[in-house]
Amino acid sequence: MIYVVLAHPYPSQSRANRALVDALRDLPEVEVCSLYDRYPDFDIDVVAEQAALARAELVVWMHPVYWYSVPGLLKHWFDKVFAYGWAYGDGSAALSGKDCLWVASTGGTLEAYAATGIHERPFGDFARPIEETARFCRMNWLEPFIVHGAHEIGEAELAAHAARLRERLQGWLAARDDRAGHSP
Ligand SMILES: Cc1cc2nc3c(=O)[nH]c(=O)nc-3n(C[C@H](O)[C@H](O)[C@H](O)COP(=O)(O)O)c2cc1C
Repeated sequence: MIYVVLAHPYPSQSRANRALVDALRDLPEVEVCSLYDRYPDFDIDVVAEQAALARAELVVWMHPVYWYSVPGLLKHWFDKVFAYGWAYGDGSAALSGKDCLWVASTGGTLEAYAATGIHERPFGDFARPIEETARFCRMNWLEPFIVHGAHEIGEAELAAHAARLRERLQGWLAARDDRAGHSP
């Protein structure tokens, strides 16, 4: 299955992430966990999260970028769920070989993420800790799916991004089925 970990502190106020996650909900095998809905007190059920990850072949981290990083509860989720002896270390490899897709939205435009832009660096520079978190746990880091300028893009452009993300997951499912030799 595909485990979509959505980390938006105010899901009902989201525009970009809501459009993205809504485009995936009815795909086969997709399970969405809205972290802030499920764990409003930050008391993460580590056993349940690890069980969901164990069942997943593709893990999606979806969130708005906050201060060049992930919202606090997703960071806490990494800290608790990616435990020593389970995700890494001591011969453990619970996440090894699973695909990982990072889906993020930014307020900053692509131009803002340039050497001459307000953020002074390409967006890829800020991706490194997230990418390395996946790689350290021996996950396969897929090409990230980033929506820049989330406040500026219109409804049609946002809908196009959402459709592109849906196609991306449909493509992943089809490729997985081909590899496994079972029909979709
Ligand atoms: C606390 C906070 C920090 C933010 N930090 C950044 C940032 O570092 N870089 C950026 O491009 N946008 C930043 N933003 C803008 C959000 O990324 C943007 O509002 C979000 O992607 C829009 O998605 P949504 O419609 O799902 O809420 C920040 C917004 C908030 C509220």
